[in-house]
Amino acid sequence: MFSGIPLFPQQASTLAADVDALYLFIVAVTAFFGILVTIVVLAFAVKYRTNDPLAVGARIHGSIPLELAWSIIPFGITLVIFAWSADVFFDLQRPPDQSIEIYATGKRWMWKFQHLDGQNEINELHVPVGRPVKVTFTSEDVLHSMFFPAFRVKADAIPGRYSSVWFQATTVGEYHLFCAEYCGTNHSGMVGKVVVMEPQDYQAWLSGTVGGGTLAARGERLFSELACNTCHLSDGRGRGPSLQNKFGASEQLASGGTVAVDAAYLRESILSPQAKLVAGYQPLMPTFQGLVSEENVMALIEYVKSLQASSGGVTAAEARTEHAAPAAAQENR
Ligand code: CUA
Repeated sequence: MFSGIPLFPQQASTLAADVDALYLFIVAVTAFFGILVTIVVLAFAVKYRTNDPLAVGARIHGSIPLELAWSIIPFGITLVIFAWSADVFFDLQRPPDQSIEIYATGKRWMWKFQHLDGQNEINELHVPVGRPVKVTFTSEDVLHSMFFPAFRVKADAIPGRYSSVWFQATTVGEYHLFCAEYCGTNHSGMVGKVVVMEPQDYQAWLSGTVGGGTLAARGERLFSELACNTCHLSDGRGRGPSLQNKFGASEQLASGGTVAVDAAYLRESILSPQAKLVAGYQPLMPTFQGLVSEENVMALIEYVKSLQASSGGVTAAEARTEHAAPAAAQENR
């Protein structure tokens, strides 16, 4: 649609055209009224000009129809923009259930990606074409912003919090990855590329670069290295709560109320264990702030996620089998 206009990056995701259509609509509405007002101002300046310096204008006491028109018409237009924007926003905010999950960390001045199958990349991200991909990320230091212009997705990387974007690439190729938040001296160098590959090329890439097992397996090793396993016994009789089947469930808190067990809650519980203590347990757990990197926190989260019958995201290996036999893949997990 915009291939002839170099102002716009290529549309390379399923939602890029929706974002552009909305943007174009807002530009068109703004341009229409901007041009209309300019023309009317010029026309009236010519029509009502006078050479008499003492001329007095006619008295005007308002016009109900005119005032209703310029209130109701803009109100209607803004409601259209609101409804349309909300629709696009929800599409951008809700990754499909079967998205391939990828973790990322922003730090001055690079992007680090971790695939569930165990691959790590810096300033490069390999994804398959035609499959939804969800990237969950945080920052190790200051504010960054992960921006894939060709996919029309962008979200801030905020220290201490998880953000996510999702996209489904539609065209094989290499696209820009930018940091879109000024983050210091080498902000302009915090760039990378996302490589969208045919599914079979992606499988070849995946199998060619594995080292150290899956992300969940790395998390499991950390879980025993950090001695988490001495308290979080799987039978629930340890000094800490069992982590079996916890991800996605909700947990009763000592302070009353409940909390949804998601990535953000697990991260907080590793770094600030007493922030939301589970009911029935003593505040014994030490903080792991400064002892576990953000990448390792993600590995631990992925391990906890693996401790259940069915998990939300899929690894690339699982995605491979799901296309062939979705039902069987569900049962095997
Ligand atoms: Cu990171 Cu700008």
